[in-house]
Amino acid sequence: MNPQQACRHRILALPGSLRRDSYNRKLLAASVHSAPGNLRIRLFDGLGDVAMFNEDMESTNPHAGVARLREAVAGADGLLIATPEYNQSIPGVVKNAIDWLSRPLPEDILAGKPVAILGASTGRWGTRLAQAAVRQTLTATEAQVMPVPMLFVRDAEQVFDGDGVLRDAGISESLHAFLLAFSDWIDLMGTRRAAIAA
Ligand SMILES: Cc1cc2nc3c(=O)[nH]c(=O)nc-3n(C[C@H](O)[C@H](O)[C@H](O)COP(=O)(O)O)c2cc1C
Repeated sequence: MNPQQACRHRILALPGSLRRDSYNRKLLAASVHSAPGNLRIRLFDGLGDVAMFNEDMESTNPHAGVARLREAVAGADGLLIATPEYNQSIPGVVKNAIDWLSRPLPEDILAGKPVAILGASTGRWGTRLAQAAVRQTLTATEAQVMPVPMLFVRDAEQVFDGDGVLRDAGISESLHAFLLAFSDWIDLMGTRRAAIAA
C-alpha cells in the first residue's frame, strides 16, 4: 500500500434535502469531483427512508432506513453535511437524522466523528442560520465539527447550470479549499484521538 492510499479518508456526504433537483445534492456531487485525491466521497441518498424519530422505536427493531444510515456513518472517517435553510433554521430531515445518530447512548456514533457543514440556498445569506443551527445541534453529540473555513452558497439557482453542474469558478475554488481543510481536520482529530488514548 502506498502512503497516499494509507491516508485515504472515506467521507459520507449527506444532502439535507429530499428534493430531486436539490442544490445541496448538486453541491455534494461537485464535491466528489473537486475533492483532493486522499478523500473518497460517497453520496448517501437514503435520508428519505429514515423514519421520524420515535424514542419507543429505539428499544424495538431498528427501522431499516435508520440502520442503513447508522451503518454508513459508522463506517465513514468523516461526514459532509450539505444543509438547506428552512425558515431560517435546520431542515427537519437533517435534525431527524442527527437525532437518530445521537442515540442510543452510550453508542453515540457521532461522538468524535469529524464533520464539515456547508450549504446552498436560493436566498441571500447562503444558509448561514441553518449551518449555525446544525453546528449547535452537533455540539450536543460531541461530533468534531470543523470550525473554519465555512462555505455559504447563496443565490444557488445562478451557480449551477441546467445539467446541475457547478459553473461558478469562485465557488469551485472555495469548495476545493474547503475539502482540503476537511482532510487536514480529519488528520488533526485522528492525532488528537491517538494522543488522548496514549
Ligand atoms: C419550507 C422552506 C423554507 C425556506 N426558508 C428559507 C430560508 O429561511 N432562507 C433561505 O435562504 N432559503 C429558504 N428557502 C429556500 C431554499 O433555500 C431553497 O428552496 C433551496 O433550493 C432548498 O435547498 P435544495 O435546493 O437543496 O432543496 C426555504 C424553502 C422552503 C421549502
